[in-house]
Amino acid sequence: MSGIDLSVKVGSLKLKNPILLASGTVGYGNEIAQFTDLSKLGGIVTKSLSLKPRKGNPPQRITETPSGMLNAIGLANVGVEVFIKEKIPFLKKLNTTLICNIAASSIEEYVECTKILNDEETIQAFEINVSCPNVKEGGLVFGNDIKSVGRITEQVRKATNKPLIIKLSPNVPKISDFAEVVMKEGGDAVSAINTLVGTSFDIKTRRPKIKNITGGLSGPAIKPIALAKVLEIKRNVDIPIIGIGGIMDWKDAIEFMIVGASAVQLGTVNFINPNAGIEIIDGMESYCEQYSVNRIEELTGSFQL
Ligand SMILES: Cc1cc2nc3c(=O)[nH]c(=O)nc-3n(C[C@H](O)[C@H](O)[C@H](O)COP(=O)(O)O)c2cc1C
Repeated sequence: MSGIDLSVKVGSLKLKNPILLASGTVGYGNEIAQFTDLSKLGGIVTKSLSLKPRKGNPPQRITETPSGMLNAIGLANVGVEVFIKEKIPFLKKLNTTLICNIAASSIEEYVECTKILNDEETIQAFEINVSCPNVKEGGLVFGNDIKSVGRITEQVRKATNKPLIIKLSPNVPKISDFAEVVMKEGGDAVSAINTLVGTSFDIKTRRPKIKNITGGLSGPAIKPIALAKVLEIKRNVDIPIIGIGGIMDWKDAIEFMIVGASAVQLGTVNFINPNAGIEIIDGMESYCEQYSVNRIEELTGSFQL
């Protein structure tokens, strides 16, 4: 035992350490449980849940890219009812913080999902995925429209007293404007970033490698972009940030905290090493020992320019 305090606060949400597993990369926890000890993590974020079950996009849905991957899963999920019936009992037994990620096609659906899930004690916070098309506005992606992000935050805020985190899209000109609207409308924190739009073609067939043509780029390729977005938010808006994007090891996690993240999420790395979370926590603890950091929280936003 090093005596270093690894606990962090993300607004009112207290975590035993800053490492969370990112939405969509570990299912509902059950998919990764046999490969790692989930109880040692700061928390897990569920795959995006919608009101009704969704099949997602047809395959091919994933392809590797240099230093990353593209995915167009299309928000496949079991829907809130099955989640409560079949997934919560397992999650209840884990001694870790559960954050429920919600995706929807209308503001009403975001609110409805939140209301239904809000009664579940096991769920300690909500993360709202705004990178979804708004069916009522002809498919415009909510997360790329500042007014929509403001309205979603305002409306979901009314539906829950639990910590509310809005997961921001990097596919916008100025991400800090979005973080500001989240703060003004009562959000507790922002997660940054979701995936960047990308594509990849097979030069022999001249066809896209994924059926949806474009997909979300994740992994080490996006880390410098994600760091720049976190830094931009930190320097402009007074709101806690959860850093996400290409974190592969403890050094990456520390770097995100230094530029402004209160906690971080691991996504793509879980497909390569499902035990990465625990290894990263150990590495962060050693770093703190070496640099005489008594409370890991001290790292957040401690950058020197
Ligand atoms: C296969 C896959 C599925 C994902 N599904 C979701 C999702 O359902 N909801 C969401 O908010 N983000 C989803 N994401 C985005 C991740 O949570 C994360 O923001 C992104 O991958 C960047 O982090 P990384 O570079 O560590 O993977 C998904 C990512 C991947 C790779």
